[in-house]
Amino acid sequence: MFTDAEFLAACEFVFKETGIVLDSTKGYLIEGRLKPLEQGANVSTLGDLIKKAHTDRAIKQKIIDAVSTNETYFFRDVKPFDLIKNHLAPTTLEKGNSLSIWSAASSTGQEAYSIAMALKEILFDLTKYRIKITGSDISTEAVHKANHGVYTRFELSRGLSPVQISRYFTPFGTTGDYKIDDELRSVVQFGQANLLTTPLMLGLYDIVLCRNVAIYFNKSDKRLLFERVHRTLKPRGALLVGSTESMLEYGDLFERGQYHNTVYYIKK
Ligand SMILES: C[S@@+](CC[C@H](N)C(=O)[O-])C[C@H]1O[C@@H](n2cnc3c(N)ncnc32)[C@H](O)[C@@H]1O
Repeated sequence: MFTDAEFLAACEFVFKETGIVLDSTKGYLIEGRLKPLEQGANVSTLGDLIKKAHTDRAIKQKIIDAVSTNETYFFRDVKPFDLIKNHLAPTTLEKGNSLSIWSAASSTGQEAYSIAMALKEILFDLTKYRIKITGSDISTEAVHKANHGVYTRFELSRGLSPVQISRYFTPFGTTGDYKIDDELRSVVQFGQANLLTTPLMLGLYDIVLCRNVAIYFNKSDKRLLFERVHRTLKPRGALLVGSTESMLEYGDLFERGQYHNTVYYIKK
């Protein structure tokens, strides 16, 4: 177990480094995810782990990796990928031959690769277009897995049909895993970045997916996040958020767009 002071120090550290708000209901998360790091860091209390993390970058990153919730799956919520495939990508590509998409908080890569699969279905040969899908996440472990592009059969079964698995993946290694197809891999790149602090590329993206990450932030960091996303979009660029996330408070930045029954947000 840990003391109240240690718990508070851990919550403060996580908030400062990631923006993720952990409150008193998240004791189980600290216990389950941070306590196991003590041994590897050569300390015996949570307080000492946090103290050491202030000066030891490797321990700091291990804590960030441990507290970030990387839950994701292929074609999560389905509709955003249909929207990209049937409306946003064709209308953007009509204007030129290029399309630039950011999967902000890409976790282990399923969202970015789902976009690549959706585009492949309409464009057939991705190499004929200037397509760039960028994924970023604060967790280096998640980014490493995304870059590797290797998934277990279980991970693939979450969102992909057997046909999609055989079309876009090949068996990899001896443990029944599968690796993403080279053509899809070639249009996707991943990097580590903190959505609240890492310097941004301005006016770069036609489409940004920022889904299921703002829920971990407080009100002012949510605002900061959407202001930053706004700056990365091209004029009239599109923002897609999670199915349960509301953008009502950011009407000064985005206007509501709708295609059939799918809502998205357009940069003002
Ligand atoms: C629940 S996952 C969402 C993944 C994907 N967007 C989806 O909807 O399936 C949330 C991700 O946000 C990342 N995250 C949390 N705080 C972050 C921050 N400050 N900067 C960048 N990524 C962050 C976590 O590491 C985690 O991978």
